[in-house]
Amino acid sequence: MNFEEELKLRRTFGIISHPDAGKTTLTEKFLLFGGAINEAGAVKSNKIKKSAMSDFMEIEKQRGISVSTSVISFEYQNKRINILDTPGHKDFAEDTYRTLSAVDSVILVIDVAKGVEEQTEKLVKVSRMRNIPIIIFINKLDREGKDAFTLLDEIEQKLKLKITPLSFPIGIGSEFKGVYNIWNNNIQIFDSLNKQKINKNQVFSSISDNQIIKLIGEKNHKQTIEDLELIKGVYPNFNRNDYLKGNLQPVFFGSALNNFGIEELLNCFLEIAPFPQPKISETRTIKPSEKKFSGFVFKIHANLDPKHRDRLAFIKIVSGTFKRNTPYFHVRLKKNFKFSSPNAFFGDKKKIVDVSYPGDIVGIHDSGNFKIGDSITSGENINFLGIPNFSPEHFKYVINKNPMKTKQLEKGINQLMDEGVAQLFTLNINGRKVIGTVGLLQFEVIQHRLLYEYGAECSFESLNIFKACWIEPVNKDDTFNDFKKIKQKFIATDTKKKIVFLADSEFTLEMTKTKYPNLIFHQSSEF
Ligand code: G4P
Repeated sequence: MNFEEELKLRRTFGIISHPDAGKTTLTEKFLLFGGAINEAGAVKSNKIKKSAMSDFMEIEKQRGISVSTSVISFEYQNKRINILDTPGHKDFAEDTYRTLSAVDSVILVIDVAKGVEEQTEKLVKVSRMRNIPIIIFINKLDREGKDAFTLLDEIEQKLKLKITPLSFPIGIGSEFKGVYNIWNNNIQIFDSLNKQKINKNQVFSSISDNQIIKLIGEKNHKQTIEDLELIKGVYPNFNRNDYLKGNLQPVFFGSALNNFGIEELLNCFLEIAPFPQPKISETRTIKPSEKKFSGFVFKIHANLDPKHRDRLAFIKIVSGTFKRNTPYFHVRLKKNFKFSSPNAFFGDKKKIVDVSYPGDIVGIHDSGNFKIGDSITSGENINFLGIPNFSPEHFKYVINKNPMKTKQLEKGINQLMDEGVAQLFTLNINGRKVIGTVGLLQFEVIQHRLLYEYGAECSFESLNIFKACWIEPVNKDDTFNDFKKIKQKFIATDTKKKIVFLADSEFTLEMTKTKYPNLIFHQSSEF
């Protein structure tokens, strides 16, 4: 197979959802179809869900939430599918946002009973910022939930999406009978015994089939005909270009746990989802079809083996081919590196790969040379954009509790920051270190990891900060220097040596903005 063909076979996407909507279950069912696993019972035993796949970290086991993003690849219908799993927990939102920089599309899972939840809104907002194509999967149809049309309205209004159902439920909860698959124009009858393995559902090609009325009842039959009329009248026809541009979102209904509606979702996904897309860098847009290799680090996974402090840097390949044992240029360090054992991830197994193509994710062992956002190329000075830092929500001073372990603490903090666990700001006035996080849970993660991985003990002291803003002067006059002098107590430097203003309240921030019209107060580190 040539390079162009390999490229077109790849589908790299993320599954996003509010926690508990069924992201893990759906991922597992996809793996089942891809033959990467044999039994879906693993969900019940939590084996796959909470250990082999995404649980590399001890802390994750303790808390039972997915704090890390994992990569799972499998082959299905001769396509290479790369799923990037994302933590749903809001404290790990940054991790999810970074993962979204490496996907070409997403599947959004919504719980039929809960509808649009807090994280659903946030994740969709980020996906929309990047115009990522979205397919929506409404899950748990076997449970009592919201009426399908009410839910579609809610999705349109709260998420500001233009949607078109490509399947529609027949009944719900205990009365759930199946779905009308608008995409394939057929009807599938629900059988709750199908849970654990891939069994074929009963499929009918016409709603007028006599047997259908027997199976779903006359009332449901009539209702389905009315529903389909309404859908035709109200929602736009599916148009792939609109979907690819992020302007139209197809919706599927089903039950991940019952393995119902999943195959149809996956098949449609394969037909419509984009193959690897171009990526913007500081200087130009890089197309996947370019022959020279380029890629970027979007994730660093620590602590794969607690006995060794090894890390895996996950590289998304943007263009060209990535070959084992070939020297590549680390743009930030201006140094060449060779990788003797790049890994791909199939189901719960790692495999060393000789060649990888755009869209693929390779994991390389790292002894501390990589940071999130680093670009690696065949030699060109490319700096990929799209992995900004946003202002943290919580800020705390770091206090070293064991002066004998100062070096370990420093090393530990720097490495955790490279992994993107939190953000570090150094106050210009006194050099004190401030850690900023999205959620409070991260402080516990940091404390735990510093102790167990680096032998360093620290505590945190609260700091009253409302937001961090990255400052850019509009003109080259003295305003910036004056500002830095007057506000020196609140000026810090981030790990990329950018100047940050730590505003203690919304009021201060607004006043300061008015007072310094020649300075731009950016909400993110990339501007
Ligand atoms: P997440 O990754 O989005 O957080 O969700 P996850 O897949 O872990 O699913 C959350 C819970 O919802 C799980 O139950 C799972 O079994 C259940 N679930 C997923 N899909 C469906 C569905 O289609 N129908 C029904 N009825 N339930 C579904 P749990 O009790 O929290 O965990 P577990 O003990 O089953 O693993």
